[in-house]
Amino acid sequence: MVHTLITGGSMGFGRSLAFECARRGMNLLLVALPGKELENTASRISSEFQVDVRYLPIDLTELDGPKNLYNWCCDQNLKINCIINDAGLAGATLFAESPVEYSDARILLNIRALTLICRFFIPILKQHPKAWILNVGSMAAYFPIPYKSVYSATKAYVLNFSKSLAVELRPSGIQVSVVCPNGIETNPGTIARNRAHKNWGKWTKMDCDKLAAFTIEKMLQGKRVIVPLFINKFLLAFRKLFPPPLLMWTLEREFRAEPRSD
Ligand SMILES: NC(=O)c1ccc[n+]([C@@H]2O[C@H](COP(=O)([O-])OP(=O)(O)OC[C@H]3O[C@@H](n4cnc5c(N)ncnc54)[C@H](OP(=O)(O)O)[C@@H]3O)[C@@H](O)[C@H]2O)c1
Repeated sequence: MVHTLITGGSMGFGRSLAFECARRGMNLLLVALPGKELENTASRISSEFQVDVRYLPIDLTELDGPKNLYNWCCDQNLKINCIINDAGLAGATLFAESPVEYSDARILLNIRALTLICRFFIPILKQHPKAWILNVGSMAAYFPIPYKSVYSATKAYVLNFSKSLAVELRPSGIQVSVVCPNGIETNPGTIARNRAHKNWGKWTKMDCDKLAAFTIEKMLQGKRVIVPLFINKFLLAFRKLFPPPLLMWTLEREFRAEPRSD
């Protein structure tokens, strides 16, 4: 029996990805912070689908978090053939005035945990003829975003890391994909931030479950960089026509409107 490991699988986009995988008959290991949400999601999926669902509460920002996750999977003899690195922290803040812990947590979770999970699990993934890594990036990966300076930089890391890893791992049969969504209204914070963008927020927003279905389909088709919605693809093409100072001026005005979340 093989399992798909999903970090951030308790709620938000990670939970939608977990339901989509279960719908496709994939057994799951859900990982998130300790709390009722994780247990509830695992039991809802178990009762709705004929799949094996395990869960592990763990804080992946702790220095030993990724290693403890790996050791736990080895102790349980879980045969992981797919890893979905969804757990991530977003937000909006003024960097210079934000607590040090704000940036630290984003770097530890969005970059360090994601990287180390890939590194620890690649030998396990290599034991299967075909295996998958899906990293959750963001459209923010493509832009230096004022008030999201650390977040957008962490997602640029995720995008570049995933693209280069995909090439390195090609001969081993491990398919690496990265998905770059725009606004997904997953929790009160993301809803408030998305709505601050008015029309842009409306045009670029995607339904969480539909996005999950689209993402898993593209991952299984072997797509390396998954950018949902025509408008996002248009934005990526259009940004190259903008002179950099004008682009930064536009981004500053657009993201100044988001409520601060530190
Ligand atoms: N929402 C958007 O608009 C949007 C847009 C583009 C990209 N993304 C990306 O999509 C991913 C999911 O976003 P979301 O909006 O669904 O987030 P969310 O609703 O806040 O869910 C985050 C998930 O990560 C888990 N998590 C948080 N901190 C953790 C930690 N220290 N250790 C282990 N697990 C932890 C949470 O666990 P608990 O349930 O225990 O808190 C939860 O399961 C992120 O990588 C985000 O950057 C989101």
